[in-house]
Amino acid sequence: MQRGFTSGLNSSRLEAGETQLKVEKIQLNFGGVTALFDVSLEVRQSEILAIIGPNGAGKTSLLNCISGLYHPQKGRIVYANGREHEITRMKPHQIARLGIARSFQNIELFRHMTVLDNLLSGAHVHMRSNLLSSLVYWGPAQREHIRFRRFVEDIIDLLEIEAIRSNTVGSLSYGLQKRVEMGRALAMQPSILLLDEPMAGMNSEEKEDMARFILDINEEHGVTIVLIEHDMGVVMDISDRIAVLNFGQKIGEGTPDEVRSNPHVVQAYLGEEKKSFPFKFSLKDENGNGNGNGSGAQVDHD
Ligand SMILES: Nc1ncnc2c1ncn2[C@@H]1O[C@H](COP(=O)(O)OP(=O)(O)OP(=O)(O)O)[C@@H](O)[C@H]1O
Ligand SMILES: [Mg+2]
Repeated sequence: MQRGFTSGLNSSRLEAGETQLKVEKIQLNFGGVTALFDVSLEVRQSEILAIIGPNGAGKTSLLNCISGLYHPQKGRIVYANGREHEITRMKPHQIARLGIARSFQNIELFRHMTVLDNLLSGAHVHMRSNLLSSLVYWGPAQREHIRFRRFVEDIIDLLEIEAIRSNTVGSLSYGLQKRVEMGRALAMQPSILLLDEPMAGMNSEEKEDMARFILDINEEHGVTIVLIEHDMGVVMDISDRIAVLNFGQKIGEGTPDEVRSNPHVVQAYLGEEKKSFPFKFSLKDENGNGNGNGSGAQVDHD
C-alpha cells in the first residue's frame, strides 16, 4: 500500500488542463537530415500525452529538444509553471530544475551505484546545499538532506523497489533498471515527466506494472506525463491524447479514438505494407460500439 508523500511529488502550480508546455514550430537539422520540421505541440497539466510514430520519426529528438539536450534551429519552446519560461536555449540541468524530468531510451543510470544512491542523485537537482555549505551550515543542510531522503523513501514505496534498494543498478534486470530510472526522474519532483520508451524490452507482466506506476504517478499525484511508446495497446489504454510524428512532421493529434481514425495516421502505419511499425486495431468493441475513452482498444501486433 502506498504511504502518503511527505512532500508533494508534483511541483507544478497550474490547474489540471492548463497549458504547461508549448512547442512552437520547431525545426531541428543534423547536417542534411531534418529530424523535426515545423513541429508544434501543446502539453496540458496532468494529462498523459503519448508521442508515437515509426522508427526515426523524430520522437526522441523532440524529447531531446524539450529537455535541452538538443537546441532546435527554428521555433521556440515555452514552459509555464506559474510564469512563462522560454526554455529553447536552456541547458538540461536548468530545465530539470524548472520541473521537467526525463528517462532515456537507453538507460542512463550510475550502474555501479546502488538503487538508493541513484535516486538520491535525482533529488540532488533541487538541493540548495553543496559540500561546502553543509560544512558551514551543518543544521540546515542536514535538515534538507533528511527531507530529500524521506521523499526518496516515498518513491521507493510507490515503485515497489524496497527489496532492491541496496543492490547495485548494474546487477538488476532490464525491467527493474527501467523502473529505477523512472524513480530517479521522479526524485527531481517534476511537473512534467518525459518517458522515452519506458516499457521497451519488457515482458507483458513488467509492462503491466510499469503502466500501473505511470497511472499512479499521473492520477494520484497529477504529474503530467509525456510518453514515447511503441506498444499501441498501452498507448491506447493509458493516454488522454496522442501526437503522431512521421518523417519529422506531426501528422496527427487527438484522443486515442481520433488518432486511430485519422487517415494520415492509418496511412503512415498501415499503408506501407506494415514495414516499420505494424499494428492493427478495431474501432468497435465486441458489441459493435465505438470505444468512448480509448480504454480497452483492440490492438493486435503482427
Ligand atoms: N545526434 C544525432 N545526429 C545525427 N542524426 C540524428 C541524431 N539524433 C537523431 N538523428 C536523426 O534524426 C532522425 C530522428 O531520430 P529520432 O531518434 O528522434 O527518432 P525516433 O522517432 O526516436 O526513432 P526510434 O523509434 O527508432 O527511437 C533520424 O533520422 C536520426 O537518424
Ligand atoms: Mg527514439
